[in-house]
Order: sequence, then structure tokens, then C-alpha cells
Amino acid sequence: MLSGSLTEKLKQIILNRVGIKEISRDENQLKAIILSRLKKLRITNTDEYVHYLLSSSRESEKEWDELLNQLLIGETYFFRDSGQIALLRNVILPELIDCGKLSKTIKIWSAGCSTGEEPYSIAMLIDELLPDHAGWNINIIGTDICTSALDRARKAIYSPWSFRAVNPYYKNRYFYDTFQGYQLNSNIRSMVDFRYYNLIQPDSKSYYSLGLEFDLIICRNVFIYFDEKMIRHCVGNFYNSIAWEGYLLCGHAEISQSKAADFKTIFSPESAIYKKTTKSITSFSPAVTTPIPELPKLFPAAEEKMFFIPEAPVKGNILSSKEIPVSPKPDPEKVIKSLIEKGDYRTAIQEIEEYLSINKNDFKLKVLAANIYANIGQHLKAEQLCTELQLSHPFEVEPFYILAQIANDRGDTNQAMTLYKKILYLNPNYFAASIELAAIYINRGENVKSQKLLSAAIEDLKKLSPSDLAFPYNAIKIGELIMELEKNFTKA
Ligand SMILES: C[S@@+](CC[C@H](N)C(=O)[O-])C[C@H]1O[C@@H](n2cnc3c(N)ncnc32)[C@H](O)[C@@H]1O
Repeated sequence: MLSGSLTEKLKQIILNRVGIKEISRDENQLKAIILSRLKKLRITNTDEYVHYLLSSSRESEKEWDELLNQLLIGETYFFRDSGQIALLRNVILPELIDCGKLSKTIKIWSAGCSTGEEPYSIAMLIDELLPDHAGWNINIIGTDICTSALDRARKAIYSPWSFRAVNPYYKNRYFYDTFQGYQLNSNIRSMVDFRYYNLIQPDSKSYYSLGLEFDLIICRNVFIYFDEKMIRHCVGNFYNSIAWEGYLLCGHAEISQSKAADFKTIFSPESAIYKKTTKSITSFSPAVTTPIPELPKLFPAAEEKMFFIPEAPVKGNILSSKEIPVSPKPDPEKVIKSLIEKGDYRTAIQEIEEYLSINKNDFKLKVLAANIYANIGQHLKAEQLCTELQLSHPFEVEPFYILAQIANDRGDTNQAMTLYKKILYLNPNYFAASIELAAIYINRGENVKSQKLLSAAIEDLKKLSPSDLAFPYNAIKIGELIMELEKNFTKA
């Protein structure tokens, strides 16, 4: 058995090594991981394990790798945080592209990138904004301390779960299906380079090998486990690594103005962002209230005439109006869901607004509209709609769910938890709330609670058709979701 003081000692050396002040595993999990390492190494004396880790040998480095690969939580997915993605897509990246026109260079660092979804999302956004980037030097570096995550990032094969917040357009355009999962195409892969890098103890060689003068550093959901001193240390290093007029983007509330005092803070409704500049700063003008992104249509032919605009009668029609066969009106909800499935948010929202101008109180369509606004990062609009819906339909769960997702995106997990719990109180079978709440518990190391919720979600999902879309998730089918939960999460 491991004594309490020994686990405390281990926690301390882990803190010194990676900056993590709270290991997001509960005490029993932590002990189980350590005991399995002792068994593997055939070490019986636990003090000896601590010495082994502290000896600066090649073997101890390898052991650190093994231990951290099991301890660190690398939860991530493509296009995480729709508000920040909208800020990048509509404001930051277009500015970097504009400023880089002369040198044809853009340099970005995704620090704590885990399995690579974050830097690859940025690469896809750049490819979309700058389709002709062949003559450019686009250098996106993803770094992490978890070597197994970096290996997976380099392979770039992903399961449907990584696409749960993705507009299906990106999945269809940039990935192809393989037996092992969805493989990212080589064009996007070639834009990103992955390296091992410890944010709190970078040796000078690895620090300088990243190069300096980054136009953007993005470091999200990494500082949540760090203590104050470590965060200041990292932010200081970031400041030295960023070019003048470059940006630092962190998760919400992960750093405060005081920790980023050298930067100028720019506030936008979607997120705060830090800029290295001597100029006095203004906020991004009505920034991310940009219209809905116009993504190329995937199936243009199929999208024509999807809404029920009556056909004009053909001249000289020999049938009387009574005899004209009336084709059944398509269900607007189905039409719109199919547009969402194809990633054509723009047409979907146009159709919804057109329909709502006649049927002002259609709850389901208003929910779909709020969902789309949340997905494309227009959080204020989504919140407004949800608040209206909560007043008119206080017992319906969907508006609570959208609000919970937005709170989660903003890093306000306490508010998100309160909302998910409320949803499960109103409708215990709402599987997405169980899954999201379970994910929060996993991140907090509360394993028993998360397992209970995930089993309930799997039971609920099994009652549905496996080929249906797992709404409210994007681009993932019920069957795929069940497999994913069984494979990855029930053993968390
Ligand atoms: C929750 S993931 C965040 C992934 C991605 N940035 C996102 O927001 O989706 C946190 C990552 O930070 C990494 N990490 C933790 N401590 C680190 C350190 N000292 N240096 C580098 N990476 C670290 C972990 O290995 C993990 O992959």
C-alpha cells in the first residue's frame, strides 16, 4: 500500500516537474497508477520509486514519460470553443494573413496541444481563409509533454468523438474514412509540426528550437491545473516568444490581466485576447458579430429548392386546380436538420428565420436557431434566444443545454454543471447532458460519478436508432457515439 505521505511527496515532485498543482485524478486512481508502475518496474519499495524518478538518468526520463502519459488528461476536440474559433476565424487569422502578405509567413504555436486537434483546427481555418497558400511559409507548431498524445497527433487519425463540435463541412472536406478512423489529409498535416516541450522547465535548447517571433500563441485548458507561479512563468516565456503585434489566446479565466500585465488585453464578447503592442488598444469593433460564415456548399444540387416554395403553375396546364396532386410539405425541422448535417448553417438560418416570420412561436425551430448561433460562436444571440425560450417553455431542456454548452465553452464549469443537473432533473434521459456532466467529472477526477452518468447515457442511446445523428452533437451518429463511449470513457 502507498502511504498518504508518499503520495504527497509524489504529488510534490510532479508539481515541480510539470507545474500541475492538482492532479485531476482521485486519490484511489492515483494510487492505482503508481502501484501499476511499481509492479511494471519490479520495485517493491515505494521510496525507491521516488528516487528513481528523481535520478536524472535516461531510464528515469522514460519513466516520467510513462507516468505522465497515464496521469495527464488530454481531453480535446476539433474547433473547441466556438466563440474563440469565431474570433480566430473572423478577426485574428484574417489580420495575421493581411500582415503576413509581404513576408508570406505566419507562425503559430499551440502550447499543450494534446492529440493535435487544436493546431489542426487552426491549419484548416487558414486553409479556408487562404486557399492559395502554396507560396507561403505557414508554420504551426504543436507542443506537449505527453509523448503518447504527440504520437497520436502525428498520425492524425481521429475518432468521431473528436468531431462532436465540428461543422460537418470540415470533416467532409479535410478527412477521409479509414479502418482506424478519420485520417486528416496530408496538405493540412504538412502545415503542423509536433514537438515535445515542457512549459514549465523548457531547457534552453528546446525553447530556442521553437524559434521566436510567433504571430499567435494559443494555450488553452492547460493552466487550469497550474499554480500561480507557474502560470506567471509561462506567460513571461510566451511574451518573450511573441512578435510585436502578435497575440496570446488562453482559455477563459485561465489568466487574468494581472498575470499578463505586459500584454494589452482586448475584450470581445467571445473572449479576452492578449496582444504584445506598445499602441493603445481598442476593443475589436463589433467583432464577431460577423454574418454566419459562408462555407462552400457540399451538395449544391441537393440544396436547391429544399424549402417549400410552391411551384408556379405551368402555363396551359390541362389539370384543374382540384386535380393537381399536392405533394406533402416537407417537415421544416427535418429540412433544417439536414442542412445542419451538411454544414450549411447559412441556408439553415435563413430558412428558420423565414419560417419563424410566419410561425413566431415554433419552439423546435427556435431551438435549432439557438443551436446554430452557439455553434458558430454567436453566443450573445444564442443566449438571447434561449432566455426567451426558457420564459415561454420553462420545462423544456434544450435551451438549458445550449446555455450549459456556452458556459462550458467559457470555462464556467460550475454554471455548466448546475445547468446539466437541472436538465437531468427535468429529463433524466437527455443523454448529452449526462455525457457532458460526466466529462466534467472526469476532468475533476471524480470517477465514480462519471461512470454512473456514462452508463446511463449508453443505456439511453441504445434505445435509439444507431444510424440517426446524435443530436445535439454535430457530425456523429448514435451508433458511433455508443462505440466511442464504450471504448474510451467507461474505463476512464
Ligand atoms: C486538456 S489538454 C488541452 C488541449 C488543447 N489545448 C485544448 O484546449 O483542447 C491539456 C494538455 O496540456 C498538457 N500539459 C500539461 N502540463 C504540461 C506542461 N508542463 N508542458 C506542456 N504541456 C503540458 C497535457 O499533456 C495535455 O495534453
